[in-house]
Amino acid sequence: MESAHHRFSLTPQPASPGTIVRAEGCELITDTGRRILDAAGGAVVNNIGHGRSEVADAVAEAMRNLDYVIPLWPTPNRLALSQHLVDNWLPDEFEHVFFAGGGSEANDTAIRLARMHHLSRGDEQRYKVIGRVPSYHGSTLATLAIGGHMARRDGLDPLLGEHPKVPWDKADALAAAIEAADPSTVAAFIAEPVIGASGPALMPPIDYWVQVAAVCREYGVLTISDEVMTGFGRTGRQWGFQHDEWTPDIMVAAKGITGGYTPLSMVSASNQVLEPIIAAGNSVMFFTYSGHDASCAGALAVLRILEAENLMERAATVGADMLAKLQAAVGGHEAVVEVRGRGLMLGVELDGLASADVVAAALDRDVWIYPGGSGPAVNDGLLFAPPLVVTDTQVDRIVAVAAEAIAEVASR
Ligand SMILES: Cc1ncc(COP(=O)(O)O)c(C=O)c1O
Repeated sequence: MESAHHRFSLTPQPASPGTIVRAEGCELITDTGRRILDAAGGAVVNNIGHGRSEVADAVAEAMRNLDYVIPLWPTPNRLALSQHLVDNWLPDEFEHVFFAGGGSEANDTAIRLARMHHLSRGDEQRYKVIGRVPSYHGSTLATLAIGGHMARRDGLDPLLGEHPKVPWDKADALAAAIEAADPSTVAAFIAEPVIGASGPALMPPIDYWVQVAAVCREYGVLTISDEVMTGFGRTGRQWGFQHDEWTPDIMVAAKGITGGYTPLSMVSASNQVLEPIIAAGNSVMFFTYSGHDASCAGALAVLRILEAENLMERAATVGADMLAKLQAAVGGHEAVVEVRGRGLMLGVELDGLASADVVAAALDRDVWIYPGGSGPAVNDGLLFAPPLVVTDTQVDRIVAVAAEAIAEVASR
């Protein structure tokens, strides 16, 4: 007999620590009282810490007033959240927001938006979206097609449209790929400022972003910054792209916008991207649950906590401390290639060890670390992204457990 633990999944999943019934601060608590230290904020989602009742209250109040309203029409929290984002979070000249349910939907929308921009200007040939290897932009067919997570694409190739790929760290390769693809057919270039699931916390060399932005400008190719993991303070700044001297044309965010309390993602674009679309009377289709009022209420409550408690600044300082501690604890291990990252998005690249094994060994010690990697071409790695309220004591425990787990798996 299959256990009920597998009923909510189509196929068996890795062993769980038990049924998670409650969460508070940086801990997840099971039905048997086991406490798991959440060193990855789930899937790099939670930022303000678990169990903040202010958010639950805001969502409950929204839902007492309204359930479902078609995304075409304003609701109080849709209006308040979009205004709050434009006023406090988005770059100048970004004055409009589209809401979706998660990161894949938002990236899918960004692809359609880029295509619609060119189409609306009469540039009908432009449709290709250049992605990097490795990268991860989601699991819809379009986001898998533009992404470079080879393990998650496995077997699906016949369903995926062909889009050019470039190595994640070579700016020169982008110009060459645009030329090879025929520049008049390229719509956009998409990238994560700090790579997440596919290559934990990989960051390209200094000047990479300035160079790729210049190349894209030269060829009339739009830049899409996938800030699904890096957005909303995770890297110590509002957005991951802000560590370098460039601004994307289109931005995509999810996870941190609600800290996981409610499902919501967003796409925004500069006025320059939107104006031709508006002038041509075009638009992009919404999703049924785009900008659910209760989800927007949750996002607003989370962002207010993030802002009032200066958690973005905390990500920068605690992250720098945690990076140094990880470096000291595991940087010299023969199975570790690199310790890296920015803010509280840190990675340990492994050599010859499977991230799933190290993660399982850490979970045996009641610490959840996110397993990263994207197939045989790229080393596996561990991704650390605790809630931004993580304490020094918790950082020490995460680092100690990571070191023990690596040592245990390496010794097998
Ligand atoms: C950078 C990035 N983009 C997109 C996605 C897909 O988001 P979702 O799983 O919410 O669809 C993820 C998920 O991990 C991600 O890390």
